[in-house]
Amino acid sequence: MEVIIKDSYEEISALAARMIAQVVRGKPNAVVGLATGSTPLGTYQELIRLHKEEGLDLSGVTTFNLDEYVGLPGDHDQSYRWFMNKNLFNHINIDPANTHVPNGMADDIERSCEEYEEAITAAGGIDIQLLGIGENGHSAFNEPGSSLGSRTRVKTLDEETITDNARFFENMEDIPRYAITMGIGTIMDSRAVILLANKESKAEAISITVEGPITAMVPATIVQMHPKATIIVDRPAGSKLTREYPDRPARIVNPT
Ligand code: F6R
Repeated sequence: MEVIIKDSYEEISALAARMIAQVVRGKPNAVVGLATGSTPLGTYQELIRLHKEEGLDLSGVTTFNLDEYVGLPGDHDQSYRWFMNKNLFNHINIDPANTHVPNGMADDIERSCEEYEEAITAAGGIDIQLLGIGENGHSAFNEPGSSLGSRTRVKTLDEETITDNARFFENMEDIPRYAITMGIGTIMDSRAVILLANKESKAEAISITVEGPITAMVPATIVQMHPKATIIVDRPAGSKLTREYPDRPARIVNPT
């Protein structure tokens, strides 16, 4: 596991984008795993800049997102499909048909979760997976207690998440109660993972994830078992780490 601490959000975003770009340059048909939330927004902005200003070609890339709400169509402004289109896909030369977000509107949700796993396998597996982290150490919608071997499946959202989301919906009954999420096992099958965190509010989760024992109660700790995990944090998010992490260039991820 490689831990990189940078001075600013801009720097962690630029580094994550550069690592993804490096994989894509080495393998134009790379399979990239993506996350939603506030953390990766800077990475997506930098990828867009690399595409527009430095000719990064994403036309052969396939993407798989970590999660999606059950019951929200892709044209709902709170869906993760909407988020990805708005913040990345609409601004780069990726083929929309090669962008995958779990289908929260499937008639048979369980079957659609199996199909998501099958689609990842058919694409050749994920070359590099971008991850955020929740303050409680969750990864995607794998909340504390999730099986460390789990695959893509439906999860009931925590009451806290439901309450938090209430502000985005006019009616209580429209707030999603379930989500589809890649499992921890699915994430661990990726050839490389980048876990990105900024802000002081993530410091505790990062300290346990990097220096604590591996436990299902903090699902992100499983990255300690990944042979190619890079944890990239800004100084506030890294402020509770106790060991020294020298500033050195990020590893070169060679896609296969
Ligand atoms: C979303 C995801 C979540 C977020 C996490 C942090 O696809 O995987 O686990 O990464 O909730 O969210 P932000 O980045 O908004 O702090």
